[in-house]
Amino acid sequence: MIVTTATTPFDDQKPGTSGLRKKVRVFEQPNYAENFIQSVFDVVEGKQGATLVIGGDGRYLNRVVIQKAIRMAAAAGFARVVVGQGGILSTPAASNVIRQRGALGGLVLSASHNPGGPDEDFGIKYNVSNGGPAPEKVTEAIHARTLSLSEWHAADSADVDLDTLGEVTVEGMIVEVIDPVADYAALMERLFDFAAIRAAGLTVAFDAMSAVTGPYATEILERRLGFAPGTVRNGTPLEDFGGHHPDPNLVHAHELYELMMSADAPDFGAASDGDGDRNLIIGRNRFVTPSDSLAMLAANAHLAPGYKDGLKGIARSMPTSAAADRVAEKLGIPSYETPTGWKFFGNLLDAGMATICGEESAGTGSDHVREKDGLWAVLLWLNILAATGKSVDQIAREHWATYGRNYYARHDYEGVDSAAADTLMRELRGKLTTLPGTSVAGLTIAEADDFAYEDPTDGSVSRNQGVRVLFEGGSRVVFRLSGTGTSGATLRVYLERYEPAGGSVDAETGDMLADIVAAAEQLAAIRQHTGRERPDVVT
Ligand code: G6P
Ligand code: ZN
Repeated sequence: MIVTTATTPFDDQKPGTSGLRKKVRVFEQPNYAENFIQSVFDVVEGKQGATLVIGGDGRYLNRVVIQKAIRMAAAAGFARVVVGQGGILSTPAASNVIRQRGALGGLVLSASHNPGGPDEDFGIKYNVSNGGPAPEKVTEAIHARTLSLSEWHAADSADVDLDTLGEVTVEGMIVEVIDPVADYAALMERLFDFAAIRAAGLTVAFDAMSAVTGPYATEILERRLGFAPGTVRNGTPLEDFGGHHPDPNLVHAHELYELMMSADAPDFGAASDGDGDRNLIIGRNRFVTPSDSLAMLAANAHLAPGYKDGLKGIARSMPTSAAADRVAEKLGIPSYETPTGWKFFGNLLDAGMATICGEESAGTGSDHVREKDGLWAVLLWLNILAATGKSVDQIAREHWATYGRNYYARHDYEGVDSAAADTLMRELRGKLTTLPGTSVAGLTIAEADDFAYEDPTDGSVSRNQGVRVLFEGGSRVVFRLSGTGTSGATLRVYLERYEPAGGSVDAETGDMLADIVAAAEQLAAIRQHTGRERPDVVT
């Protein structure tokens, strides 16, 4: 039986950079998850007879919300729900299943790299039929619907056994519980030369951070590629990620970093985040920034079977360093600069305009799915190491010797008072037109603007995507407020300095960026507005 429940709207269900993210306690309010899911289903057309994919990163509340979503999907007219065993699907694996199954879309339950547990974060994101996050016009329609919703509908049925593979029926709708790893691992075997990686004799440390990539990494790295047992660390997904932030950066993956800088370092170290779409790459004694990783992967991708015919184009988000642009230029292919958020890459990938994309926020991926993909980046790096016989450090040095180096860092000020952060941004925006031609901290400003993006495939325009101050010589600072936080505001300050080939490409990043850090403070009065002496996180 389908049961209708009366509800009233919540005024805080506007999806952010990557879906609706809130504290678990917020999601636990009566009707909260149901209202949002019903709003998604009300906006999405073509549900009758269609397939919906549901999966999550296994964090606290995952199973509960999956059961709700299944009952509501049955009421919405879906013919089939495909769900990962145990409620698990990494974000890239979910994207793959949506594409492989010709599904109408999918619900990805995750708060990515944010911590999990009863007092931490949860999230729901809707992905469309290409496997990628819903574009802005869909998320805007979902938000509008949340504000007028008066009822939600669900089958009056018992919980589905999510742990047993196979099919059951809920109110006439088939629920298929699948192996979450199999299809994804098969896709990776098609893209990369597993035999060459196996033969290269590399040593690897992969930190799954007690999050969703554990089962994927164990199957692919230890079983299929034959790396030693124990290569995958923290490989069992936990509802609270063991109390850690499942965020693969130098702060939260510091154990891996320390290992990679020690005398016992293996050849290659990597980590992934809560839902498996981010990556951290560290070679023996060589950390590779996400922006550099994108550029180095793009420059060498043709060495992997899946990319042997070359790349059609390279896309990066605006705050990501311009290192990848230089590779595109050399390859004679187009480069694209999009706003922050993987959803902006979807159209470029669908149109065959770009093959590889990446972001400074530790995301890299390609047209094999429509999400960024942590293990994909790891495997492409391993394929390149195997094909060249070089170390990560060698690849990085040779890259900089060829293209020059974009020194890069991001300074995050977390949990800042929202009003203070808004004031900082408003004051910056207010003086943009006066900046060109002036100097700060000894640097001359060439241009200053608030980034706007016109999608070349559909002409849609996204404004106010971050303040850019470009200095003469190719250095810059970017200011943006995060769209993924769940409390207060996070100010992100992105610092970049370009040093041409033949210049000092082997210096300390902190030294090379010191004058840009000073310029950022002078431009935005960060200390005065945030009350902070220094950033909380430097990546
Ligand atoms: C998520 C999105 C990314 C984005 C990142 C940073 O991971 O999938 O595409 O780059 O958030 O977003 P933020 O708004 O917090 O800087
Ligand atoms: Zn993520």
